[in-house]
Amino acid sequence: MCGIVGYTGKNEALPVVTGGLFALEYRGYDSSGVAVLCGGKTEIVKKTGKLENLMAALEKAQLKGTCGIGHTRWATHGEVTETNAHPHTVGKTVLVHNGIIENYVSVGKMTNTDFKSTTDTERACALFNELYERCGDGLQTITSACREFVGSYAFLVMFKDEPDIFYAVRNGCPLVVGTADGGFAACSDVAACDFGEYYKLSDGDVAKVTKDGISFFDKDGVAISKEALTPKKSFSAPDKCGFPHYMLKEMEEIPTVLKNTLEAHIKDGLPYFEGVEDEIFKNMNRLCIVGCGTAYHAGLVCEHISRQLTGIEGDIYIASEYRYSGHKLNKDDAVIFITQSGETADTLACIRMCRAQGAYTLGVVNVPTSTAVEECDGVILTHAGSEIAVASTKAYVTQLAALYLIVLKMSLVKGTLTEDEVRGLCGELLNDVCADSKLSDTDKITINRIAEKYADCRDMFYIGRGIDSVLCSEASLKLKEISYVHSEAYPSGELKHGTISLITEGVGVFAILTDERLYLKSIGNIEEAAARGGSVIALCKEGFCKDKNYDLIPCRISNDLFAPFAVAPRFQYFAYCMTIIKNLDPDKPRNLAKSVTVE
Ligand code: F6R
Repeated sequence: MCGIVGYTGKNEALPVVTGGLFALEYRGYDSSGVAVLCGGKTEIVKKTGKLENLMAALEKAQLKGTCGIGHTRWATHGEVTETNAHPHTVGKTVLVHNGIIENYVSVGKMTNTDFKSTTDTERACALFNELYERCGDGLQTITSACREFVGSYAFLVMFKDEPDIFYAVRNGCPLVVGTADGGFAACSDVAACDFGEYYKLSDGDVAKVTKDGISFFDKDGVAISKEALTPKKSFSAPDKCGFPHYMLKEMEEIPTVLKNTLEAHIKDGLPYFEGVEDEIFKNMNRLCIVGCGTAYHAGLVCEHISRQLTGIEGDIYIASEYRYSGHKLNKDDAVIFITQSGETADTLACIRMCRAQGAYTLGVVNVPTSTAVEECDGVILTHAGSEIAVASTKAYVTQLAALYLIVLKMSLVKGTLTEDEVRGLCGELLNDVCADSKLSDTDKITINRIAEKYADCRDMFYIGRGIDSVLCSEASLKLKEISYVHSEAYPSGELKHGTISLITEGVGVFAILTDERLYLKSIGNIEEAAARGGSVIALCKEGFCKDKNYDLIPCRISNDLFAPFAVAPRFQYFAYCMTIIKNLDPDKPRNLAKSVTVE
Protein backbone atom coordinates (compact mmCIF):
# COMPACT_ATOMS: atom_id res chain seq x y z
CA MET A 1 0.00 0.00 0.00
CA CYS A 2 0.98 3.63 -0.22
CA GLY A 3 4.37 4.56 1.18
CA ILE A 4 5.28 8.02 2.46
CA VAL A 5 8.63 9.69 3.11
CA GLY A 6 9.56 13.19 4.27
CA TYR A 7 12.80 15.04 5.00
CA THR A 8 13.89 18.39 6.36
CA GLY A 9 17.47 19.32 7.26
CA LYS A 10 20.64 20.78 5.94
CA ASN A 11 20.88 18.57 2.86
CA GLU A 12 18.84 18.43 -0.32
CA ALA A 13 15.53 16.68 0.42
CA LEU A 14 15.13 14.89 -2.88
CA PRO A 15 17.80 12.16 -2.57
CA VAL A 16 16.50 11.14 0.88
CA VAL A 17 12.87 11.19 -0.26
CA THR A 18 13.40 9.27 -3.50
CA GLY A 19 15.79 6.83 -1.77
CA GLY A 20 13.03 6.13 0.74
CA LEU A 21 10.48 5.66 -2.03
CA PHE A 22 12.67 3.04 -3.70
CA ALA A 23 13.05 1.25 -0.39
CA LEU A 24 9.24 1.32 0.00
CA GLU A 25 8.64 -0.09 -3.50
CA TYR A 26 8.01 -3.54 -2.01
CA ARG A 27 4.73 -2.26 -0.56
CA GLY A 28 3.24 -2.12 -4.06
CA TYR A 29 2.26 1.05 -5.97
CA ASP A 30 0.96 2.27 -9.28
CA SER A 31 2.11 5.92 -9.30
CA SER A 32 4.42 8.16 -7.33
CA GLY A 33 5.26 11.78 -6.67
CA VAL A 34 7.34 14.24 -4.67
CA ALA A 35 6.98 17.83 -3.49
CA VAL A 36 9.82 20.11 -2.42
CA LEU A 37 9.24 23.29 -0.44
CA CYS A 38 11.56 26.18 -1.22
CA GLY A 39 11.21 29.92 -0.65
CA GLY A 40 7.46 29.78 0.02
CA LYS A 41 6.85 27.81 -3.16
CA THR A 42 6.29 24.13 -3.66
CA GLU A 43 7.22 22.20 -6.72
CA ILE A 44 5.48 18.94 -7.36
CA VAL A 45 6.33 16.18 -9.81
CA LYS A 46 4.11 13.09 -10.22
CA LYS A 47 4.11 10.15 -12.58
CA THR A 48 2.15 6.96 -13.10
CA GLY A 49 3.93 3.62 -13.31
CA LYS A 50 7.34 2.70 -12.00
CA LEU A 51 9.53 5.01 -9.94
CA GLU A 52 11.93 5.12 -12.88
CA ASN A 53 9.32 7.29 -14.65
CA LEU A 54 9.32 9.72 -11.74
CA MET A 55 13.13 9.75 -11.66
CA ALA A 56 13.28 10.60 -15.36
CA ALA A 57 10.86 13.50 -14.84
CA LEU A 58 12.83 14.70 -11.80
CA GLU A 59 16.01 14.78 -13.81
CA LYS A 60 14.41 17.34 -16.09
CA ALA A 61 12.61 19.26 -13.31
CA GLN A 62 15.74 19.79 -11.13
CA LEU A 63 13.82 20.40 -7.88
CA LYS A 64 15.92 22.09 -5.21
CA GLY A 65 15.09 22.47 -1.54
CA THR A 66 15.88 21.02 1.85
CA CYS A 67 12.31 20.15 2.89
CA GLY A 68 10.26 17.67 0.91
CA ILE A 69 7.76 14.82 0.95
CA GLY A 70 7.16 11.87 -1.36
CA HIS A 71 4.65 9.12 -1.97
CA THR A 72 4.09 5.82 -3.72
CA ARG A 73 0.36 5.39 -4.38
CA TRP A 74 -1.69 2.20 -4.43
CA ALA A 75 -5.00 3.43 -5.81
CA THR A 76 -8.07 3.20 -3.59
CA HIS A 77 -10.28 6.19 -4.47
CA GLY A 78 -9.84 7.15 -8.08
CA GLU A 79 -8.03 5.52 -10.94
CA VAL A 80 -4.32 5.52 -11.63
CA THR A 81 -3.62 8.97 -13.11
CA GLU A 82 -1.09 11.71 -12.52
CA THR A 83 -3.87 13.92 -11.17
CA ASN A 84 -4.85 11.35 -8.58
CA ALA A 85 -1.22 10.67 -7.60
CA HIS A 86 0.15 12.37 -4.46
CA PRO A 87 1.32 14.87 -3.27
CA HIS A 88 -1.94 16.83 -3.38
CA THR A 89 -2.06 20.54 -2.89
CA VAL A 90 -4.84 23.00 -2.10
CA GLY A 91 -3.94 26.65 -1.43
CA LYS A 92 -1.03 26.75 1.01
CA THR A 93 -1.19 23.08 1.91
CA VAL A 94 0.72 20.18 0.36
CA LEU A 95 0.46 16.62 1.65
CA VAL A 96 0.89 12.90 1.12
CA HIS A 97 -1.38 10.28 2.65
CA ASN A 98 -1.43 6.56 3.35
CA GLY A 99 -4.86 5.19 4.30
CA ILE A 100 -8.48 5.92 3.50
CA ILE A 101 -10.58 8.86 4.67
CA GLU A 102 -13.95 7.11 4.72
CA ASN A 103 -16.02 10.27 5.19
CA TYR A 104 -14.21 12.08 2.38
CA VAL A 105 -17.42 13.24 0.74
CA SER A 106 -18.57 15.15 3.82
CA VAL A 107 -15.00 16.33 4.49
CA GLY A 108 -14.90 17.78 0.96
CA LYS A 109 -18.23 19.52 1.53
CA MET A 110 -16.81 21.28 4.59
CA THR A 111 -14.66 23.29 2.19
CA ASN A 112 -15.33 25.41 -0.82
CA THR A 113 -12.96 23.75 -3.24
CA ASP A 114 -12.98 22.91 -6.88
CA PHE A 115 -11.48 19.44 -6.78
CA LYS A 116 -9.16 18.29 -9.53
CA SER A 117 -8.82 14.67 -8.51
CA THR A 118 -11.28 11.99 -7.45
CA THR A 119 -9.29 11.09 -4.34
CA ASP A 120 -10.26 11.13 -0.70
CA THR A 121 -6.84 12.69 -0.05
CA GLU A 122 -7.51 15.90 -1.95
CA ARG A 123 -10.67 16.39 0.15
CA ALA A 124 -8.60 15.98 3.30
CA CYS A 125 -6.01 18.40 1.92
CA ALA A 126 -8.75 20.97 1.32
CA LEU A 127 -9.91 20.69 4.91
CA PHE A 128 -6.37 21.12 6.23
CA ASN A 129 -6.05 24.19 4.04
CA GLU A 130 -9.39 25.68 5.08
CA LEU A 131 -8.46 25.35 8.75
CA TYR A 132 -4.96 26.70 8.12
CA GLU A 133 -6.35 29.75 6.38
CA ARG A 134 -8.48 30.38 9.48
CA CYS A 135 -5.88 29.91 12.23
CA GLY A 136 -2.51 30.29 10.48
CA ASP A 137 -0.98 27.67 12.72
CA GLY A 138 0.20 24.30 11.39
CA LEU A 139 -0.08 22.30 14.59
CA GLN A 140 -3.56 23.58 15.44
CA THR A 141 -4.64 22.85 11.86
CA ILE A 142 -3.46 19.26 12.07
CA THR A 143 -5.20 18.47 15.36
CA SER A 144 -8.45 20.20 14.33
CA ALA A 145 -8.62 18.51 10.93
CA CYS A 146 -7.89 15.06 12.37
CA ARG A 147 -10.91 15.40 14.67
CA GLU A 148 -13.08 15.45 11.55
CA PHE A 149 -11.64 12.40 9.81
CA VAL A 150 -13.19 8.96 9.93
CA GLY A 151 -10.84 6.28 8.61
CA SER A 152 -7.18 5.48 8.65
CA TYR A 153 -4.27 7.71 7.82
CA ALA A 154 -0.64 8.58 8.01
CA PHE A 155 -0.17 12.13 6.69
CA LEU A 156 2.90 14.23 6.01
CA VAL A 157 1.79 17.84 5.62
CA MET A 158 3.70 20.99 4.60
CA PHE A 159 2.37 24.55 4.64
CA LYS A 160 3.93 26.91 2.12
CA ASP A 161 4.47 29.71 4.61
CA GLU A 162 6.08 27.44 7.26
CA PRO A 163 9.48 26.92 5.66
CA ASP A 164 11.61 23.86 6.49
CA ILE A 165 8.78 22.23 8.45
CA PHE A 166 6.54 19.25 7.89
CA TYR A 167 4.02 17.63 10.19
CA ALA A 168 3.50 13.90 10.60
CA VAL A 169 0.32 12.44 12.06
CA ARG A 170 -1.11 8.95 12.12
CA ASN A 171 -4.21 6.97 12.89
CA GLY A 172 -4.05 3.27 12.06
CA CYS A 173 -1.26 3.44 9.45
CA PRO A 174 2.43 2.99 10.26
CA LEU A 175 4.67 6.04 10.56
CA VAL A 176 8.06 6.71 12.16
CA VAL A 177 10.15 9.86 12.42
CA GLY A 178 13.79 10.23 13.35
CA THR A 179 17.23 11.62 12.68
CA ALA A 180 18.58 10.92 9.21
CA ASP A 181 21.04 12.35 6.73
CA GLY A 182 21.99 15.56 8.55
CA GLY A 183 18.37 16.29 9.35
CA PHE A 184 15.09 14.62 10.20
CA ALA A 185 12.99 12.19 8.23
CA ALA A 186 9.61 10.45 8.41
CA CYS A 187 8.75 7.18 6.74
CA SER A 188 6.11 4.42 6.61
CA ASP A 189 8.74 1.82 7.49
CA VAL A 190 11.75 2.24 9.73
CA ALA A 191 13.71 -0.09 7.46
CA ALA A 192 13.29 2.20 4.44
CA CYS A 193 15.33 5.17 5.73
CA ASP A 194 18.81 5.44 7.17
CA PHE A 195 17.61 6.46 10.64
CA GLY A 196 19.96 7.17 13.52
CA GLU A 197 17.42 7.39 16.35
CA TYR A 198 13.77 7.06 15.54
CA TYR A 199 10.38 7.42 17.23
CA LYS A 200 7.24 5.41 16.51
CA LEU A 201 4.12 7.52 16.29
CA SER A 202 1.07 6.08 18.03
CA ASP A 203 -2.46 6.77 16.86
CA GLY A 204 -3.28 10.44 17.45
CA ASP A 205 0.36 11.53 17.88
CA VAL A 206 1.53 14.53 15.88
CA ALA A 207 5.19 15.25 15.15
CA LYS A 208 6.31 18.72 14.13
CA VAL A 209 9.52 18.12 12.20
CA THR A 210 11.78 21.13 11.63
CA LYS A 211 15.32 21.34 10.30
CA ASP A 212 16.50 21.67 13.94
CA GLY A 213 14.51 18.92 15.65
CA ILE A 214 11.28 17.05 16.26
CA SER A 215 8.61 17.88 18.83
CA PHE A 216 5.69 15.62 19.68
CA PHE A 217 2.09 16.44 20.60
CA ASP A 218 -1.00 14.46 21.49
CA LYS A 219 -4.25 14.68 19.56
CA ASP A 220 -5.17 17.87 21.42
CA GLY A 221 -1.86 19.57 20.64
CA VAL A 222 -0.41 19.10 24.14
CA ALA A 223 3.36 18.51 24.10
CA ILE A 224 4.38 14.92 24.92
CA SER A 225 7.67 13.08 25.03
CA LYS A 226 8.40 9.89 23.16
CA GLU A 227 11.00 7.20 23.62
CA ALA A 228 13.91 7.27 21.17
CA LEU A 229 14.62 3.90 19.59
CA THR A 230 17.65 2.63 17.71
CA PRO A 231 17.12 0.61 14.53
CA LYS A 232 17.95 -3.06 15.21
CA LYS A 233 19.91 -3.40 11.99
CA SER A 234 22.06 -0.87 10.23
CA PHE A 235 20.25 0.44 7.18
CA SER A 236 20.84 -1.43 3.96
CA ALA A 237 18.80 -0.96 0.83
CA PRO A 238 17.08 -4.18 -0.31
CA ASP A 239 19.47 -6.29 -2.39
CA LYS A 240 18.70 -9.17 -4.74
CA CYS A 241 22.19 -10.59 -4.07
CA GLY A 242 22.66 -11.58 -7.69
CA PHE A 243 19.27 -13.28 -8.11
CA PRO A 244 17.08 -12.02 -10.96
CA HIS A 245 14.11 -11.59 -8.60
CA TYR A 246 13.52 -11.16 -4.88
CA MET A 247 11.05 -14.02 -5.01
CA LEU A 248 13.71 -16.44 -6.20
CA LYS A 249 16.19 -15.19 -3.61
CA GLU A 250 13.59 -15.55 -0.88
CA MET A 251 12.68 -19.10 -1.91
CA GLU A 252 16.39 -20.02 -1.88
CA GLU A 253 16.57 -18.79 1.71
CA ILE A 254 13.82 -21.13 2.92
CA PRO A 255 15.96 -23.89 4.48
CA THR A 256 18.05 -21.28 6.33
CA VAL A 257 15.22 -19.11 7.64
CA LEU A 258 13.26 -22.21 8.59
CA LYS A 259 16.17 -23.35 10.70
CA ASN A 260 16.61 -19.85 12.18
CA THR A 261 12.97 -19.76 13.22
CA LEU A 262 13.05 -23.25 14.72
CA GLU A 263 16.31 -22.61 16.58
CA ALA A 264 14.95 -19.39 18.02
CA HIS A 265 12.01 -21.25 19.57
CA ILE A 266 13.51 -24.60 20.56
CA LYS A 267 15.41 -24.63 23.85
CA ASP A 268 16.85 -27.78 25.38
CA GLY A 269 15.15 -29.71 22.60
CA LEU A 270 11.62 -28.44 23.41
CA PRO A 271 9.41 -25.61 22.11
CA TYR A 272 10.06 -22.39 23.97
CA PHE A 273 8.48 -18.96 23.53
CA GLU A 274 10.08 -16.18 25.51
CA GLY A 275 7.57 -14.13 27.46
CA VAL A 276 4.62 -16.46 26.80
CA GLU A 277 3.54 -18.46 29.86
CA ASP A 278 2.80 -22.19 29.51
CA GLU A 279 -0.58 -21.46 31.12
CA ILE A 280 -1.67 -19.71 27.92
CA PHE A 281 -1.32 -22.98 25.98
CA LYS A 282 -2.68 -25.10 28.79
CA ASN A 283 -5.87 -23.06 28.88
CA MET A 284 -6.49 -23.17 25.14
CA ASN A 285 -9.51 -25.36 24.63
CA ARG A 286 -9.90 -24.30 21.03
CA LEU A 287 -7.27 -22.94 18.74
CA CYS A 288 -8.47 -19.57 17.54
CA ILE A 289 -6.35 -18.14 14.72
CA VAL A 290 -6.82 -14.95 12.68
CA GLY A 291 -4.94 -13.75 9.57
CA CYS A 292 -5.27 -12.69 5.93
CA GLY A 293 -4.24 -14.37 2.68
CA THR A 294 -1.18 -16.55 3.06
CA ALA A 295 -1.12 -16.03 6.82
CA TYR A 296 -4.71 -17.33 7.00
CA HIS A 297 -3.65 -20.35 4.95
CA ALA A 298 -0.86 -21.06 7.43
CA GLY A 299 -3.55 -21.07 10.13
CA LEU A 300 -5.53 -23.68 8.20
CA VAL A 301 -2.51 -26.01 8.20
CA CYS A 302 -2.16 -25.52 11.93
CA GLU A 303 -5.77 -26.55 12.48
CA HIS A 304 -5.06 -29.95 10.87
CA ILE A 305 -1.91 -30.49 12.90
CA SER A 306 -3.60 -29.50 16.13
CA ARG A 307 -6.46 -31.92 15.59
CA GLN A 308 -3.97 -34.68 14.92
CA LEU A 309 -1.59 -34.04 17.83
CA THR A 310 -3.70 -32.52 20.57
CA GLY A 311 -7.26 -33.41 19.59
CA ILE A 312 -8.03 -29.71 19.87
CA GLU A 313 -10.21 -28.20 17.17
CA GLY A 314 -9.38 -24.94 15.48
CA ASP A 315 -11.41 -21.89 14.55
CA ILE A 316 -9.50 -20.22 11.76
CA TYR A 317 -10.72 -16.82 10.64
CA ILE A 318 -10.05 -14.36 7.85
CA ALA A 319 -9.34 -11.10 9.67
CA SER A 320 -11.65 -8.94 7.55
CA GLU A 321 -14.53 -11.27 8.45
CA TYR A 322 -13.62 -11.85 12.09
CA ARG A 323 -13.45 -8.13 12.66
CA TYR A 324 -17.18 -7.64 12.09
CA SER A 325 -18.39 -11.06 13.17
CA GLY A 326 -19.50 -10.02 16.64
CA HIS A 327 -17.51 -12.76 18.39
CA LYS A 328 -17.78 -12.57 22.14
CA LEU A 329 -14.55 -13.18 24.05
CA ASN A 330 -13.47 -12.94 27.64
CA LYS A 331 -10.27 -12.89 29.67
CA ASP A 332 -9.89 -16.68 29.53
CA ASP A 333 -9.70 -16.68 25.74
CA ALA A 334 -6.49 -16.51 23.72
CA VAL A 335 -6.35 -15.64 20.04
CA ILE A 336 -3.38 -16.17 17.72
CA PHE A 337 -2.72 -13.57 15.00
CA ILE A 338 -0.48 -14.45 12.09
CA THR A 339 1.05 -11.61 10.09
CA GLN A 340 4.28 -11.25 8.18
CA SER A 341 4.28 -7.45 8.05
CA GLY A 342 2.61 -6.86 11.38
CA GLU A 343 0.85 -3.91 9.72
CA THR A 344 -2.15 -5.50 8.00
CA ALA A 345 -5.06 -3.22 8.83
CA ASP A 346 -7.70 -5.93 9.35
CA THR A 347 -5.42 -8.08 11.48
CA LEU A 348 -4.48 -5.11 13.65
CA ALA A 349 -8.15 -4.20 14.06
CA CYS A 350 -8.85 -7.76 15.26
CA ILE A 351 -5.97 -7.59 17.75
CA ARG A 352 -7.47 -4.40 19.17
CA MET A 353 -10.96 -5.86 19.24
CA CYS A 354 -9.79 -8.97 21.13
CA ARG A 355 -7.71 -6.96 23.57
CA ALA A 356 -10.64 -4.66 24.26
CA GLN A 357 -12.65 -7.73 25.32
CA GLY A 358 -9.89 -8.88 27.66
CA ALA A 359 -8.65 -11.85 25.61
CA TYR A 360 -4.95 -12.71 25.44
CA THR A 361 -3.47 -11.86 22.03
CA LEU A 362 -0.54 -13.87 20.71
CA GLY A 363 1.14 -12.62 17.54
CA VAL A 364 3.11 -14.77 15.13
CA VAL A 365 4.89 -11.91 13.39
CA ASN A 366 7.88 -11.49 11.09
CA VAL A 367 8.70 -7.78 11.28
CA PRO A 368 10.03 -7.13 14.79
CA THR A 369 9.46 -3.36 14.66
CA SER A 370 5.83 -3.68 13.55
CA THR A 371 2.64 -2.48 15.19
CA ALA A 372 1.46 -6.07 15.80
CA VAL A 373 4.58 -6.76 17.86
CA GLU A 374 3.91 -3.63 19.85
CA GLU A 375 0.24 -4.36 20.44
CA CYS A 376 0.02 -8.11 21.09
CA ASP A 377 0.28 -9.40 24.65
CA GLY A 378 2.71 -12.09 23.57
CA VAL A 379 4.80 -12.40 20.42
CA ILE A 380 6.43 -15.32 18.63
CA LEU A 381 8.76 -13.89 16.01
CA THR A 382 9.31 -15.74 12.78
CA HIS A 383 12.85 -15.21 11.54
CA ALA A 384 12.28 -15.04 7.80
CA GLY A 385 14.24 -11.79 7.44
CA SER A 386 12.87 -9.07 5.21
CA GLU A 387 10.52 -10.33 2.51
CA ILE A 388 10.38 -7.94 -0.44
CA ALA A 389 8.57 -9.91 -3.16
CA VAL A 390 4.83 -9.37 -2.90
CA ALA A 391 4.12 -13.11 -2.96
CA SER A 392 4.92 -14.54 0.43
CA THR A 393 7.18 -17.61 0.27
CA LYS A 394 9.77 -17.89 3.02
CA ALA A 395 7.55 -16.06 5.50
CA TYR A 396 4.77 -18.64 4.99
CA VAL A 397 7.17 -21.51 5.69
CA THR A 398 8.43 -19.84 8.87
CA GLN A 399 4.84 -19.18 9.95
CA LEU A 400 4.22 -22.91 9.59
CA ALA A 401 7.31 -23.60 11.71
CA ALA A 402 6.12 -21.33 14.52
CA LEU A 403 2.62 -22.84 14.39
CA TYR A 404 3.94 -26.42 14.50
CA LEU A 405 5.95 -25.49 17.59
CA ILE A 406 2.85 -23.95 19.17
CA VAL A 407 0.96 -27.21 18.59
CA LEU A 408 3.87 -29.24 19.98
CA LYS A 409 3.92 -26.97 23.02
CA MET A 410 0.19 -27.52 23.50
CA SER A 411 0.67 -31.28 23.16
CA LEU A 412 3.31 -31.13 25.85
CA VAL A 413 1.49 -28.99 28.38
CA LYS A 414 -1.77 -30.82 27.82
CA GLY A 415 -0.04 -34.20 27.96
CA THR A 416 -1.23 -35.51 24.60
CA LEU A 417 2.42 -36.23 23.72
CA THR A 418 5.24 -37.17 26.08
CA GLU A 419 8.29 -34.98 26.52
CA ASP A 420 10.36 -37.56 24.63
CA GLU A 421 7.92 -37.57 21.72
CA VAL A 422 7.95 -33.76 21.50
CA ARG A 423 11.74 -33.72 21.76
CA GLY A 424 11.95 -36.26 18.94
CA LEU A 425 9.64 -34.22 16.70
CA CYS A 426 11.56 -31.00 17.40
CA GLY A 427 14.76 -32.81 16.41
CA GLU A 428 13.16 -34.02 13.18
CA LEU A 429 11.99 -30.51 12.38
CA LEU A 430 15.47 -29.12 12.81
CA ASN A 431 17.24 -31.78 10.83
CA ASP A 432 15.22 -33.75 8.29
CA VAL A 433 12.51 -31.18 7.67
CA CYS A 434 14.87 -28.31 6.88
CA ALA A 435 16.56 -30.65 4.38
CA ASP A 436 13.21 -31.65 2.83
CA SER A 437 12.45 -27.97 2.17
CA LYS A 438 15.46 -27.56 -0.13
CA LEU A 439 14.96 -27.95 -3.87
CA SER A 440 17.72 -29.76 -5.74
CA ASP A 441 18.74 -28.73 -9.25
CA THR A 442 16.86 -31.77 -10.55
CA ASP A 443 13.70 -30.62 -8.73
CA LYS A 444 14.01 -27.20 -10.32
CA ILE A 445 14.55 -28.61 -13.81
CA THR A 446 11.52 -30.92 -13.43
CA ILE A 447 9.27 -28.14 -12.15
CA ASN A 448 10.38 -25.71 -14.84
CA ARG A 449 9.80 -28.29 -17.57
CA ILE A 450 6.28 -28.89 -16.31
CA ALA A 451 5.62 -25.14 -16.05
CA GLU A 452 6.67 -24.77 -19.70
CA LYS A 453 4.11 -27.37 -20.67
CA TYR A 454 1.32 -25.64 -18.73
CA ALA A 455 2.25 -22.03 -19.40
CA ASP A 456 -0.69 -21.46 -21.76
CA CYS A 457 -3.19 -23.10 -19.48
CA ARG A 458 -6.02 -20.68 -18.63
CA ASP A 459 -7.47 -22.44 -15.60
CA MET A 460 -5.79 -24.51 -12.93
CA PHE A 461 -7.66 -26.44 -10.25
CA TYR A 462 -5.63 -27.38 -7.18
CA ILE A 463 -7.04 -30.46 -5.52
CA GLY A 464 -6.13 -32.49 -2.46
CA ARG A 465 -7.57 -34.15 0.61
CA GLY A 466 -6.92 -33.54 4.30
CA ILE A 467 -3.97 -31.31 4.95
CA ASP A 468 -3.20 -31.36 1.21
CA SER A 469 -6.46 -29.54 0.55
CA VAL A 470 -5.39 -26.55 2.65
CA LEU A 471 -1.95 -26.57 1.04
CA CYS A 472 -3.88 -26.33 -2.24
CA SER A 473 -5.42 -23.05 -1.06
CA GLU A 474 -1.99 -21.49 -0.70
CA ALA A 475 -0.64 -23.09 -3.89
CA SER A 476 -3.58 -21.68 -5.85
CA LEU A 477 -3.16 -18.20 -4.35
CA LYS A 478 0.53 -18.25 -5.29
CA LEU A 479 -0.20 -19.13 -8.90
CA LYS A 480 -3.01 -16.64 -9.48
CA GLU A 481 -1.41 -13.68 -7.74
CA ILE A 482 1.77 -13.63 -9.82
CA SER A 483 1.06 -15.52 -13.08
CA TYR A 484 -2.55 -14.28 -13.47
CA VAL A 485 -3.66 -17.80 -14.38
CA HIS A 486 -7.15 -18.30 -13.02
CA SER A 487 -6.97 -20.94 -10.33
CA GLU A 488 -9.11 -22.41 -7.60
CA ALA A 489 -8.46 -24.78 -4.75
CA TYR A 490 -10.88 -27.60 -3.96
CA PRO A 491 -10.93 -30.54 -1.60
CA SER A 492 -10.68 -33.37 -4.17
CA GLY A 493 -13.89 -35.05 -3.08
CA GLU A 494 -15.85 -31.83 -3.46
CA LEU A 495 -15.19 -31.44 -7.19
CA LYS A 496 -18.05 -33.58 -8.31
CA HIS A 497 -20.53 -31.54 -6.30
CA GLY A 498 -20.46 -28.84 -8.95
CA THR A 499 -17.05 -27.66 -10.03
CA ILE A 500 -16.18 -30.65 -12.17
CA SER A 501 -18.44 -29.13 -14.82
CA LEU A 502 -15.55 -26.74 -15.50
CA ILE A 503 -13.01 -29.47 -16.15
CA THR A 504 -12.68 -29.86 -19.90
CA GLU A 505 -9.88 -30.57 -22.38
CA GLY A 506 -6.75 -28.56 -21.48
CA VAL A 507 -7.81 -27.45 -18.00
CA GLY A 508 -4.94 -27.92 -15.53
CA VAL A 509 -5.46 -30.12 -12.48
CA PHE A 510 -2.70 -29.72 -9.91
CA ALA A 511 -3.04 -32.47 -7.33
CA ILE A 512 -1.18 -32.53 -4.03
CA LEU A 513 -0.86 -36.00 -2.51
CA THR A 514 1.12 -36.61 0.63
CA ASP A 515 -1.25 -38.55 2.85
CA GLU A 516 -0.93 -42.32 2.50
CA ARG A 517 -4.31 -42.91 4.17
CA LEU A 518 -6.10 -40.83 1.55
CA TYR A 519 -4.00 -41.86 -1.44
CA LEU A 520 -6.48 -44.16 -3.19
CA LYS A 521 -9.38 -41.77 -2.60
CA SER A 522 -7.35 -38.91 -4.07
CA ILE A 523 -6.34 -40.96 -7.09
CA GLY A 524 -10.02 -41.73 -7.72
CA ASN A 525 -10.80 -38.01 -7.80
CA ILE A 526 -7.84 -37.19 -10.03
CA GLU A 527 -8.95 -39.89 -12.47
CA GLU A 528 -12.45 -38.37 -12.58
CA ALA A 529 -10.91 -35.04 -13.58
CA ALA A 530 -8.52 -36.67 -16.09
CA ALA A 531 -11.43 -38.54 -17.67
CA ARG A 532 -13.00 -35.17 -18.50
CA GLY A 533 -9.89 -33.84 -20.25
CA GLY A 534 -8.00 -32.36 -17.30
CA SER A 535 -4.20 -32.44 -17.64
CA VAL A 536 -2.76 -33.60 -14.34
CA ILE A 537 0.29 -32.43 -12.42
CA ALA A 538 0.89 -34.39 -9.22
CA LEU A 539 3.05 -32.91 -6.48
CA CYS A 540 3.38 -35.98 -4.34
CA LYS A 541 5.41 -37.99 -1.90
CA GLU A 542 8.25 -39.91 -3.53
CA GLY A 543 6.97 -43.26 -4.77
CA PHE A 544 3.36 -42.10 -5.22
CA CYS A 545 1.67 -42.05 -8.67
CA LYS A 546 4.54 -43.96 -10.33
CA ASP A 547 2.17 -45.98 -12.50
CA LYS A 548 0.23 -42.90 -13.60
CA ASN A 549 0.49 -40.80 -16.68
CA TYR A 550 0.72 -37.53 -14.71
CA ASP A 551 3.37 -34.82 -14.77
CA LEU A 552 5.10 -35.70 -11.55
CA ILE A 553 6.80 -33.46 -9.00
CA PRO A 554 7.98 -36.03 -6.46
CA CYS A 555 9.27 -34.86 -3.09
CA ARG A 556 11.11 -36.50 -0.25
CA ILE A 557 8.99 -36.36 2.90
CA SER A 558 10.78 -37.73 5.95
CA ASN A 559 7.68 -37.68 8.15
CA ASP A 560 4.13 -37.23 6.79
CA LEU A 561 3.33 -34.94 9.71
CA PHE A 562 5.73 -32.39 8.27
CA ALA A 563 4.76 -32.72 4.60
CA PRO A 564 3.88 -28.98 4.21
CA PHE A 565 7.55 -28.04 4.57
CA ALA A 566 8.49 -30.16 1.55
CA VAL A 567 5.43 -29.32 -0.53
CA ALA A 568 5.26 -25.52 -0.12
CA PRO A 569 8.66 -24.63 -1.65
CA ARG A 570 7.76 -26.77 -4.69
CA PHE A 571 4.38 -25.23 -5.43
CA GLN A 572 5.90 -21.79 -4.85
CA TYR A 573 8.65 -22.56 -7.36
CA PHE A 574 6.06 -23.79 -9.85
CA ALA A 575 4.16 -20.48 -9.61
CA TYR A 576 7.43 -18.61 -10.04
CA CYS A 577 8.37 -20.59 -13.19
CA MET A 578 4.92 -20.08 -14.73
CA THR A 579 5.32 -16.33 -14.15
CA ILE A 580 8.80 -16.12 -15.64
CA ILE A 581 7.76 -18.15 -18.70
CA LYS A 582 4.87 -15.72 -19.21
CA ASN A 583 7.37 -12.87 -19.03
CA LEU A 584 5.75 -11.26 -15.99
CA ASP A 585 7.39 -9.64 -12.96
CA PRO A 586 6.93 -12.01 -10.00
CA ASP A 587 8.10 -9.41 -7.48
CA LYS A 588 5.51 -6.76 -8.27
CA PRO A 589 2.29 -8.33 -9.53
CA ARG A 590 -0.38 -5.95 -10.77
CA ASN A 591 -2.87 -4.49 -8.31
CA LEU A 592 -1.19 -6.01 -5.26
CA ALA A 593 0.58 -4.49 -2.30
CA LYS A 594 2.93 -6.18 0.12
CA SER A 595 1.63 -4.43 3.17
CA VAL A 596 -2.15 -4.02 3.20
CA THR A 597 -2.62 -1.06 5.49
CA VAL A 598 -6.21 -0.28 4.53
CA GLU A 599 -9.23 -2.51 5.11
C1 F6R B 1 0.17 -13.51 -0.66
C2 F6R B 1 0.42 -12.62 0.46
C3 F6R B 1 -0.75 -12.04 1.16
C4 F6R B 1 -0.43 -11.78 2.64
C5 F6R B 1 -1.58 -11.03 3.33
C6 F6R B 1 -1.33 -10.85 4.80
O1 F6R B 1 1.36 -14.02 -1.17
O2 F6R B 1 1.54 -12.34 0.80
O3 F6R B 1 -1.88 -12.83 1.02
O4 F6R B 1 -0.20 -13.01 3.26
O5 F6R B 1 -1.73 -9.79 2.71
O6 F6R B 1 -0.18 -10.10 5.03
P1 F6R B 1 0.52 -10.12 6.44
O7 F6R B 1 1.04 -11.49 6.67
O8 F6R B 1 1.62 -9.10 6.30
O9 F6R B 1 -0.49 -9.75 7.46
